[in-house]
Amino acid sequence: MKAGSTETILRARGIGKSFPGVQALAGVDFDLRAGEVHALVGENGAGKSTLARIIAGVEKQDAGQMELNGQPYSAASRAHAETRGVRMVMQELHLIGNLTVAENIFIEKLPSRFGIVDYGKLNGAAIEIMEQVGLADIDPATPVRSLGIGQQQMVEIAAGLSRQCRILALDEPTASLTENETELLFHQIKRLKGEGVGIIYISHSIEEVLRIADRVSVLRDGRGISTADAGELSSSDIIRMMVGRDLEHEQLRHAGRPGEVALRVSGLNLGKKVRNVSFEVRRGEVLGVAGLMGSGRTETMRALFGADTADGGQVYLRGADVPVRIRSPRDAVRSGIAFLTEDRKGQGLLLPLAVRKNISLMRLRDVSRFGWMDVPRECSVACRYVDVLSVRCSSTEQTVGELSGGNQQKVVIAKWLYRDCDVLIFDEPTKGIDVGAKFEIYNQLGKLADKGKAIIFVSSDLKELMAVCDRIMVMSAGTVAETFDRDRWSREKIMAAALSELRADSV
Ligand SMILES: Nc1ncnc2c1ncn2[C@@H]1O[C@H](COP(=O)(O)OP(=O)(O)OP(=O)(O)O)[C@@H](O)[C@H]1O
Ligand SMILES: [Mg+2]
Repeated sequence: MKAGSTETILRARGIGKSFPGVQALAGVDFDLRAGEVHALVGENGAGKSTLARIIAGVEKQDAGQMELNGQPYSAASRAHAETRGVRMVMQELHLIGNLTVAENIFIEKLPSRFGIVDYGKLNGAAIEIMEQVGLADIDPATPVRSLGIGQQQMVEIAAGLSRQCRILALDEPTASLTENETELLFHQIKRLKGEGVGIIYISHSIEEVLRIADRVSVLRDGRGISTADAGELSSSDIIRMMVGRDLEHEQLRHAGRPGEVALRVSGLNLGKKVRNVSFEVRRGEVLGVAGLMGSGRTETMRALFGADTADGGQVYLRGADVPVRIRSPRDAVRSGIAFLTEDRKGQGLLLPLAVRKNISLMRLRDVSRFGWMDVPRECSVACRYVDVLSVRCSSTEQTVGELSGGNQQKVVIAKWLYRDCDVLIFDEPTKGIDVGAKFEIYNQLGKLADKGKAIIFVSSDLKELMAVCDRIMVMSAGTVAETFDRDRWSREKIMAAALSELRADSV
């Protein structure tokens, strides 16, 4: 896509921001033109969200100046920025669960007559906006709480799009969207560009950035490294600018010999979403699970973990002939199964507590003696994981709520790594994680397998599955289409398997 104009609408110079113990930004310059998509990339904790939040008035800079349309600009609050036409869709969701979809979209300007909300008008207007983002089949009167995480994200985006603006910042908007939803979002971005809106687009997906950005700016350790036209960059250029070295997805794992069967699932069924799914995973093995969005991967894992009640099927552990009863996640955890869900925003981080506490929470007994917390031991455990996963925090005493989005996710991963289960299920563990840290996570998965754990790795990124897994099971329309051994798979074969049941369905 080409930028529509070269008129600069926002000019930021020498932006600096510190938090206790961290210099989040130092001397950053940033320009945004009318009608361009300007991507902001960088490692977790590089300062991307902070910069966008300063522009959108959510946070106040300590140093530097900004100009909007050539006039000095400084926003005292988010609401104030909005009156100047600057909006932001944040990385964390800000929807109010009890309110309906329509109420969330129009929260600031509910249409009312004589002080009474006009629900007919409200829902009508909401339908119009929801159609644009592909939420046409959702009743605007549904409480947001009952939607899936991807749909909630779309509602948040719809709310951002519903209002007039000149600058729109989108902070990792696609992290929990399906491919379809992403396409609809890109379509809306194109429309806004056409209207001359300047778009700040934060993402860890380099493919996405290369697809929709006109210019790319890289932040590294809170400093602006460089800005370039997207057309002149390849994905390895961007990676090099971000992490300062090359990273390749070649084969990362040199598998040992897998041990006994750690988990066997037989004939698992859950409505139409999971149909007669059977598979096994051995100790020392990484089993990849591939498939399109909606192919039943997450549903299968949820059913086997007891998060949803299966209609039928058995789960056998450690080669036993008698199935285990898993009726709740608690049963699963007791049986030695861990599940890192894709919905990390809603999952088990205690934001006001320190990193140290969050990591040790799952195994308090091991870091306490005679019922007393063994703080030095707790610290050393937490430090080890912070180090292994390069969690960027001022110390393990920092509260998790202060960490950047990607670093919060690393803490969730640390927590499960420390939990020490026999079978670990990771559902999209690298979403929202920067490329450098992704490789650290791949290494951790490999190491866990080498220690004799059985790993199930669900991912939409075929490249990473092919780099890390020993076998890849491909799901299609709720069922296992095919399972490939390493050396037997190819991108084409996996894609064909992922589509196979869909074709069978439509015949
Ligand atoms: N409220 C806060 N209190 C303390 N530190 C903070 C706060 N907000 C951000 N930081 C720190 O500032 C740095 C930059 O954070 P920021 O959220 O901007 O990173 P990011 O580039 O958006 O990362 P990610 O890709 O993980 O979302 C991080 O080290 C983070 O821990
Ligand atoms: Mg961020």
